[in-house]
Amino acid sequence: MSATQVLPLPAAKGPWKGLINRYREYLPVTDKTPVITLNEGNTPLVHCCHLSHICGPNTDVFIKYEGLNPTGSFKDRGMTMAVTKAVEEGSKAIMCASTGNTSASAAAYAARAGITCAVLIPSGKNVALGKLAQASIAGAKVIRIEGNFDQALEMVRVLCETNPITLVNSVNPYRIEGQKTGSFEIVEQLGGVAPDLHCLPVGNAGNITAFWKGYTELHQRNHIAALPTMWGFQAAGAAPIVLGHPVPNPDTIATAIRIGNPASWKQAVAARDESKGKIDMVTDEEITAAYKHLASKEGIFCEPSSAASVAGLLKMVNAGQLDALRKERGLKHMNIVCVLTGHGLKDPDYATKSAEPPVVVPATMEAVLGALGMG
Ligand code: F0G
Repeated sequence: MSATQVLPLPAAKGPWKGLINRYREYLPVTDKTPVITLNEGNTPLVHCCHLSHICGPNTDVFIKYEGLNPTGSFKDRGMTMAVTKAVEEGSKAIMCASTGNTSASAAAYAARAGITCAVLIPSGKNVALGKLAQASIAGAKVIRIEGNFDQALEMVRVLCETNPITLVNSVNPYRIEGQKTGSFEIVEQLGGVAPDLHCLPVGNAGNITAFWKGYTELHQRNHIAALPTMWGFQAAGAAPIVLGHPVPNPDTIATAIRIGNPASWKQAVAARDESKGKIDMVTDEEITAAYKHLASKEGIFCEPSSAASVAGLLKMVNAGQLDALRKERGLKHMNIVCVLTGHGLKDPDYATKSAEPPVVVPATMEAVLGALGMG
């Protein structure tokens, strides 16, 4: 009995010039497509010793550090495709609803393409400072509605249907096409295999849809022998998929995933069920603990919502679910990938609130040595 030969993805030709250039045969583009790129993608897959240890023997945990994309989040993967196709189709304006990262990315790619970008953001302090700054400085028309993300998305859908404006939320299929390349990179970085387990935060549910699409396409094309189990995590105050009904007033410190009625709900459930995975929820306390662990033990700074992936993994370890999965799949060794979707500098307020403030001392050697406990 011989297993089907697994083929590597075609090798890269020349230096990195963005993910459309790298994976063009897997994407809906032609040689004539005017590619709008900021050289996104090619983010590192970082091995984490402490997390691996916590998860048990013969287990390696890796972080896919999507915060290192050009605008600091995974949204750039989808946005290079969405804006490229918008320009190819002759669109002069794009629009999105956003908890922050989509707007930051849309604004940057629209600036690069020389087209107009409008964004609708939720009320109050629901968009982290860095994200708002990014959209504004790029010249986007930023409008804050007195409502939440779900209401903003409903409005944007209607506005884009009735006006010559391209919708660039993840309901735009080109966004999913671009974001699926995250799976391609992970497989290449692991040396031609999918991880056994893939953990990620779930908000509007575009990303879980995209990663699963990426893995299934690689499987169909014989680039991987086995598919990963997908574990998605929502914030406890914004967990419609876990609860099985929309949440009218979602609330969590993880503002990026403060979403009560995800647009790709069905696709997220399909990814969960087809991969025999789970969509569970994590509390703000669990998210904050994972966020601090990543920064202080692994040296990786992400925004709070991103840490939901690691918070969820740790919750599952404590509940015995990781060992259960190991047994169920008969794995002697386990590769786990957690996606960190956005950079920590997106939300400097939450970082400063979560850490000790600097010690203030007179400008003398004694005082500094004293403060260091070396006096
Ligand atoms: N992590 C971060 C940092 C995000 O910004 C988002 C979504 C998610 C996770 C969840 O991804 O929606 O594909 O399930 N942010 C969107 C935005 C909603 O407007 O920036 P998802």
